[in-house]
Amino acid sequence: MTWEVKCTMKKILFAASECVPFIKTGGLADVVGSLPKCLDKEYYDCRVIIPKYAKIAAQYSDKMEYITNFYMDLNWRQQYVGIFKMEYEGITYYFIDNEEHFSGDQIYGGMPWDLEKFAFFSKAVLSVLPIIDFRPDVIHCHDWQTGLIPVYLHERFQGNEFFRGIKSVMTIHNLKFQGVWDTETMKNITGLSDYYFTPDKMEYNKDGSYLKGGLVYADAITTVSKTYAEEIKTPFYGEGLDGLMRARANDLRGIVNGIDYDEYNPETDSLIFQNYNARNFRKEKQKNKTALQEQLGLEVDPKAMMIGVVSRLTDQKGLDLIAYMMDELCQDAIQLVVLGTGEQKYENMFRHFAWKYDKKVSANIFYSNDLSHKIYAACDAFLMPSLFEPCGLSQLMALRYGTVPIVRETGGLKDTVEPYNEYEGTGTGFSFANYNAHEMLGTIRYAERIYYDKKRDWNKIVDRAMAADFSWHRSALEYQELYDWLIGY
Ligand code: GLC
Repeated sequence: MTWEVKCTMKKILFAASECVPFIKTGGLADVVGSLPKCLDKEYYDCRVIIPKYAKIAAQYSDKMEYITNFYMDLNWRQQYVGIFKMEYEGITYYFIDNEEHFSGDQIYGGMPWDLEKFAFFSKAVLSVLPIIDFRPDVIHCHDWQTGLIPVYLHERFQGNEFFRGIKSVMTIHNLKFQGVWDTETMKNITGLSDYYFTPDKMEYNKDGSYLKGGLVYADAITTVSKTYAEEIKTPFYGEGLDGLMRARANDLRGIVNGIDYDEYNPETDSLIFQNYNARNFRKEKQKNKTALQEQLGLEVDPKAMMIGVVSRLTDQKGLDLIAYMMDELCQDAIQLVVLGTGEQKYENMFRHFAWKYDKKVSANIFYSNDLSHKIYAACDAFLMPSLFEPCGLSQLMALRYGTVPIVRETGGLKDTVEPYNEYEGTGTGFSFANYNAHEMLGTIRYAERIYYDKKRDWNKIVDRAMAADFSWHRSALEYQELYDWLIGY
């Protein structure tokens, strides 16, 4: 490899439906917002493109620079495409503007509206490239909303000199969401011909699937942990695509997510009551607990074991196990602090128990970045009994704050939380294997025993948790290696 070749900037474009700090509904936004910053800037020019939602806060949208606009053919009509640009913390962001698709106070409006919204976005992402004069070597697509990009690249854009040879990567953050709808509507919306709607391409149980299209046409597939990469080759986790995952096993890799270690740092975090670090947490961390107990109206007791749940309140997160065990759990000497929104049955379940055990349970049924940091800092343990979990970021945040995760051994939870072994003195958390409420309760109670009866051992778990490194450093190298392999040098 010559020096000149090595020094050529590799151009990467991230395409996604959400990205921190502009817009977020889940972990996808954290990944898209933090990974580009961690690639080696000397060799990788990584830019990001997302929709210009009306919901993006004015503090950001006011700073966007208008580039140009044009009209694009889609769904039997000409649709307006505006392009905006912004530099933020060293990264170039592009925003695709179209009021019809991206106004409204929710970024996802449900099917079939989202189908057209993201067909529009996917086609626009490719259409704007010659205009902004950015020819990526790799387009890195995230989740079903961008699944059509590899398809369109294959279908019409590769024919054009500018696009020839552009590679694509499809990253699965969650295989459950695929953008599935009936094929006739999908053909109309996307303009794709019958050719694309066969079982070896986008057809999925007689319907069409955007994500499947991406997974068939992308040059490489990644998902966000090694264990999930294996799990999705099986029917239980495969969401009907396990066969495709097995067929593409050679092109599929699991790369575990990291988190932004500057944003999540108990030593400097300005959102928490009391800063602390791996050396002084024994004295300082619990000041966060008593302050939060006061703020949330829980019994103020520095010794009470406080367990946190910060989560989207959906089936995926294993909340039915918690619901089933709540009464029993609340007989123990614990406090439970919940933060999140989602399905009504879970929102109401937590509200109910917060009413029933008002000094022990606090249900905060809203979104709050501020409170989430306070919970990570204040709690002793963090509960995440997910049914499936591609990666999971909250347990990484918990580890960083010395808040011991209690998790089910699935996906990224299995890869990032090492179970406590009291005989060997190893481990950073507690875990259980089966999706079973009693197994979960047994594991929580085991953690309670260590917390109350073997405090020194507990603190050593915290030591190890805080020493674990889930910054992006290692995973960014794995992505770089993937890009290099795709580009061919
Ligand atoms: C999705 C997954 C979660 C993962 C996140 C970021 O939200 O459910 O497990 O951590 O995407 O990749």
